[in-house]
Amino acid sequence: MFDEKTVLRIPGPTPVPPEVTRAMTHSMIGHRSGDFSTLFKEVQENLRELFQTSGDVAVIAGTGTAGLEAAVYSMVQQGDRVLAISTGNFGDRFTDIARRTESEVLTMNCEWGTSANVQEIVETLQQYPDIQVVLLTHCETSTGVLNDVKEIARVTHEHGAYLIVDAVSSFVGSPLLMDEWHVDIVVTGSQKALGLPPGLALVAMGPRAIERMKEGPAARSFYFDLRRYQKDISASTTPWTPPVSLIYGLRQSVSMILAEGLQKTQDRHRLLRDMTRAGIRALGLTLMVEDDHMASHTVTTVFVNHADEVRKIMKNDLHLAVAGGQKQLAGKIIRIGHMGYVDASDVLQCLATLEIALVKTGYDITLGTGVGAAAEVYVHAENTRN
Ligand SMILES: Cc1ncc(COP(=O)(O)O)c(C=O)c1O
Repeated sequence: MFDEKTVLRIPGPTPVPPEVTRAMTHSMIGHRSGDFSTLFKEVQENLRELFQTSGDVAVIAGTGTAGLEAAVYSMVQQGDRVLAISTGNFGDRFTDIARRTESEVLTMNCEWGTSANVQEIVETLQQYPDIQVVLLTHCETSTGVLNDVKEIARVTHEHGAYLIVDAVSSFVGSPLLMDEWHVDIVVTGSQKALGLPPGLALVAMGPRAIERMKEGPAARSFYFDLRRYQKDISASTTPWTPPVSLIYGLRQSVSMILAEGLQKTQDRHRLLRDMTRAGIRALGLTLMVEDDHMASHTVTTVFVNHADEVRKIMKNDLHLAVAGGQKQLAGKIIRIGHMGYVDASDVLQCLATLEIALVKTGYDITLGTGVGAAAEVYVHAENTRN
């Protein structure tokens, strides 16, 4: 009966709004046509607003990793010293991408579950004055940590280096004022808070990044050479055949976020985070990220006994999927995604489902405790009306 029913509370892919699904059924158009240019121009203008940049946003057929690879291959030049800050699994992947360039990669590995220490970054920058590029993950999806992009961008800019931020799982969920904070490149993917299917990478290039790429040698990668994408944006097109249907979906998703208002979208994500955390705490479970200031607005990580069994019950019996831990966290945590097309009732449903699975696996909790605590947060929050 429920073969195709799965409520996605994983940190991506996320539920796709029906309006976006409908938009993607638009009949096919030629990508070198005036119709496509009109579509792409509108998308480009709206994306600049969401990224908070006066620069350009490359729309690449590929997932978030493709965007990270494009950013690194286009920005890092032979012989550069790169500081790769890693706070978890996705930071490690970002580091691996940089290691494939002909650069000197310096790694700063932070304890999983903690955010990057700004003072330590300042000291590293002082110790290595020739660091030209810094890589940072905004929301580390494997641990649920949110890094302080604003401060790290400030010290990186003061040092004269370029900052590339992986905002794959934080984009539009958490504030990121690209130009104002001096972030040079921001990368995201379609299947997170944008509420699209997987398949699009967006790479926002600020004015300084555009200058560096123009002056530098050609990127080592052909497909992922951001200069090609940037050059074509002024003609409202893309260098290679774009995924037209996804771009129709992107236009719809972006316009829905702008209609809600970026600030309101971010406030909603923060509220969902606060509700989730209140529910988890009321159940007596341990959050992986105890400090609210370091906690992601889009994914919450929780230590749970028999985590995989709990997930299985939630998925098989109640058709709600949460994610498990990665690498050394496998079997130890669950990761609850609350990003994109998600509202307060979705969080209540997720907590209710979790509570049932906890009881079934032997937890001594009173059903409704987590749901009640989350509902309290909602009731006392301001501006929850649409
Ligand atoms: C922070 C972060 N970076 C990078 C990625 C990789 O993105 P993709 O799987 O779309 O290539 C993810 C995916 O979950 C992510 O959460």
